[in-house]
Amino acid sequence: MVMTPHKREFAFPGLVVFISTQDEQGVRNVAPYSNLMPILRPTDLVCVASWHKRDTLRNIRKTGEFVLNVPPVEMVKHVIPTAKHYPPETDEFVVAGLTPKASKTVKPPGIEGCLAWMECSLVRQHIEKEYVLIIGKVKRLEMQEDLLDAAGGFDPHKADPLMVLLNNSGMRFVTVKDTGYTEPYGAMFPDGKDRLAHLYK
Ligand SMILES: Cc1cc2nc3c(=O)[nH]c(=O)nc-3n(C[C@H](O)[C@H](O)[C@H](O)COP(=O)(O)O)c2cc1C
Repeated sequence: MVMTPHKREFAFPGLVVFISTQDEQGVRNVAPYSNLMPILRPTDLVCVASWHKRDTLRNIRKTGEFVLNVPPVEMVKHVIPTAKHYPPETDEFVVAGLTPKASKTVKPPGIEGCLAWMECSLVRQHIEKEYVLIIGKVKRLEMQEDLLDAAGGFDPHKADPLMVLLNNSGMRFVTVKDTGYTEPYGAMFPDGKDRLAHLYK
């Protein structure tokens, strides 16, 4: 079916993260974001797209810090409470019933119960009239150890990150499914060796 180009996100399943930030006075803010990506493999950079009118964006610009929290599907109940607009002086951990998890390298806390936490600093902004692309550097990455498999990544049978598919009715929340098919990175290269392996050290 051919669809309007404005529905291009219908074709991209998205990861949902909660971005936690705080303002200069320490007021904590949480918002769901799904327009995000790591910048290539294996840099330590991430890119998040934000509309201008966001407390999250304002806090990141003022403090240079944020945490990307990767929630499990059960935390879907916190999506709408944190997506609603509150005055900037509202502590959104309190209104959304979220428990803070102290961060090690940035001031904003992460969220207890998530699968992974990325403590980030603002590196650069690409500013357009309507939106901003925020480029952040991951200073510290933590993943729930009991959800990792022997290969050191999430076990798809244990970790159930919250993802979203968009459609004409709204947002359909989903998670990952194991295909049982795996390949080493080296499979992309003629000699079978991963040219980028040294960058992980
Ligand atoms: C699943 C989901 C994903 C969202 N993704 C984004 C996004 O990537 N960028 C954005 O600017 N807003 C996004 N939003 C909207 C913000 O979460 C929402 O406007 C929120 O109130 C912003 O809060 P803040 O003003 O405290 O930052 C998303 C909302 C939902 C429900």
